[in-house]
Amino acid sequence: MSSPLILALDTDDLDTAKSWIEFTHDSIGVYKIGLEFFLKFGRHGITSLREAGDFQLFLDLKLHDIPNTVSGATSSILDIAPKFLTVHASGGRAMVAAAVAAAPEVSITAVTILTSLSEEDLHEVGFSGSSVKSAVRLAQLAVSAGATSIVCSPLEVSAIREVVPPHIWLITPGVRPSESSTDDQKRTMTPLEAVESGANFLVIGRPITSHWATSGQAMREAAARILEPLIS
Ligand code: C5P
Repeated sequence: MSSPLILALDTDDLDTAKSWIEFTHDSIGVYKIGLEFFLKFGRHGITSLREAGDFQLFLDLKLHDIPNTVSGATSSILDIAPKFLTVHASGGRAMVAAAVAAAPEVSITAVTILTSLSEEDLHEVGFSGSSVKSAVRLAQLAVSAGATSIVCSPLEVSAIREVVPPHIWLITPGVRPSESSTDDQKRTMTPLEAVESGANFLVIGRPITSHWATSGQAMREAAARILEPLIS
C-alpha cells in the first residue's frame, strides 16, 4: 500500500504517539515528528516509536542557519535515516545545497512560506509580491539547489506543480475532509482536491488524531476513510 498520508504526531506523550502509530499504520506509511517531540525525546524517542511498527519518518526540524551548521546538523541525524528532513528554503541556495550534500539519501524538503504568515507579515520581513509568488520562487530556488520535496499550502500546490519537475514531491498541510472541523486552519482544501491540484503527500493531524478521544478503533477508521477516495 502506498499511502499519500503523513500523520503529524502532535503529542508530547511518547506512549500516545506509539499508540497512534499502532492504530493507523494500515492507512499511513509516513509519520511526522516535529521540534516539540524531537527536543523532548530525541533519537531515543524515535527508536521507541519504531517499536510500534514499520514506518518512514518525516523529520520536521525546519533547519535554517549558515550552510556549515546546517551541513553538520544534517550529518548528525543520518543514523535516524528519515525519509524527509525539512529546511527553510529562505535559508538560501548554499544552505539547501549543504543539506543535500550531507544527506544524499534523504529527501531534503524545503519549506516555502509558513502559512501562519499573512501578506502583511511577509512585507514586514522584506518579501515583496504575493505569498504565492514568493512560494513559487522559493520552491524553484530550493529545487535548483537539490531539494527533492517542497512543503507548501494547498493553495500554492498547483502554481508550484507547474514550475517544478514531476519527480519533485509536493507536500501540503492544511487539508480537511469535508466532514471535519477546520480547527485553526484558515485556508483548507479537501484531501482529494489537494491531490488533484498536484500534491503527492498530505500532512494531516487532528482529523485523525481527535478520534483518539473515542477509541483507537475510531482513529483507525478515520484514517481509512480519509485514504479511501485517494486510492480508489
Ligand atoms: O491537525 P492538523 O491537520 O492541522 O495538523 C497539521 C500539521 O501540519 C501540524 O503538525 C502543523 O504544525 C503542520 N503544519 C501546518 N501548516 C504549515 C506547516 C506545518 O499545519 N504551514
